[in-house]
Amino acid sequence: MSESGKKLTIVGAGAVGTSAAHWAVSRKVAQEIVMVDVVDGIPQGKALDISQSAPLCGFHGSVIGTCDYKDTAGSDVVIITAGLARKPGMSRDDLLSKNVEIVKQVTENIVSQSPEAVIVVVTNPIDAMVYTVFKVSGFPKNRVVGMAGVLDSARYRTFLAKALGVAPRDVTALVMGIHGDNMLPLTRLASVAGVPVEQLLSKQQLEEIVRRTKYGGGEIVQHLKTGSAFTTPGLCAIEMAQSVLFDEKRVLPCAAYLEGEFGIDGVFLGVPVVLGRGGVERIVEFELTEQERAALEKSVEAVKKQVAATGL
Ligand code: APR
Repeated sequence: MSESGKKLTIVGAGAVGTSAAHWAVSRKVAQEIVMVDVVDGIPQGKALDISQSAPLCGFHGSVIGTCDYKDTAGSDVVIITAGLARKPGMSRDDLLSKNVEIVKQVTENIVSQSPEAVIVVVTNPIDAMVYTVFKVSGFPKNRVVGMAGVLDSARYRTFLAKALGVAPRDVTALVMGIHGDNMLPLTRLASVAGVPVEQLLSKQQLEEIVRRTKYGGGEIVQHLKTGSAFTTPGLCAIEMAQSVLFDEKRVLPCAAYLEGEFGIDGVFLGVPVVLGRGGVERIVEFELTEQERAALEKSVEAVKKQVAATGL
C-alpha cells in the first residue's frame, strides 16, 4: 500500500496515540501525520522518533509533533486519544468527568481547523466521549465514530482462535453494544472460515471466552498497573482511519449514532457499519434474537447513564 495523499491527525501523544502513529506509518495510511498533545516536547519527540522509522518502513510522508492546532489544519481524519487512562480498580466510567472536559476542548480545536474531517474517538468511556464529540462539534452523525468494537472483536477473535487452534485471521466474530461489561459478543454469528464456532466449541468454552472478552481490557490493566492497553487499540483506530482514507468500505463494528436502527434511538452504540470516505456510510442492520436484543438493551441503559453524566 502507498500513502493515500491524505492528512491524519492524532490528538494525544500518549501510549495509544503513539501506537496509532506507529501503525499509521507502518501501514502508510496518510501522506501527512500530525501528533498533538498539551505537554510541550512530548508530541515533538515522539513524532521525531517515529519519523525515523521511515527508511525501514518505506514511508514517504511526514510525521510532525506539535502543541499548535494550526498544524492540524485540513485533516481528513482526526483520531482523539487525549485523556486519562485506567489504573487497577478503575472502571472506564471513572474516567468520565475528567475526560469529558479534555474531549470538549480538543473537539473545539479540531473543528476550528478541520471542519470536514471524520473524527474517530478512542478516549474512554468511548460511548459517552463519542457523544460528547458529536454534540460539541455539530458535525453530521456520519463524521463522528467511536473505536471500540474493532478492539473488542479482535480480542474475541484472538481467544476463539486460541481455543480452536486455528489462525486468528480465519475467525470472524462481532461484538456489539457498549465498550464495557455489558458488551455483546455474538456467539451465534462467530465462525471460522464460515463454520459456526457453536459447532466446534462447547457451551462452557464459549461462555468463558465471552467472559474473557468482556473483561479483556481490565485483564491488561491488572497486569500493567500504571495504564491500559495501547498497542492494539492504536492499531484498531488506524484500521478505521485507513478504511476512511482509502474509501475501503470495510464493515467494522464501531460506535455509531443510531436513529431507529436495531430499534434504538439517540445514542452511540457499537454496531456493524460500512466505513468509507464519508465516514459511517451505512449501518448494517440485521435481525437479533430475543436474548440478543435484551442484552443490547442493557448496553443501551449503561450508555444512557454515561451520557447523562456528561451533562450534555
Ligand atoms: N489535549 C491534548 N492532549 C491531551 C490533553 C488535551 N487537552 N489532555 C491530556 N492529553 C494527553 C496527555 O498529555 C497524554 O500524553 O493525552 C495523552 C494520554 O496518554 P496516556 O496517559 O498514555 O493514555 P493512553 O493510554 O494513551 O490512553 C488514552 O485512550 O484507550 C483510551 O482509556 C484510554 O482514555 C484513555 C485514552
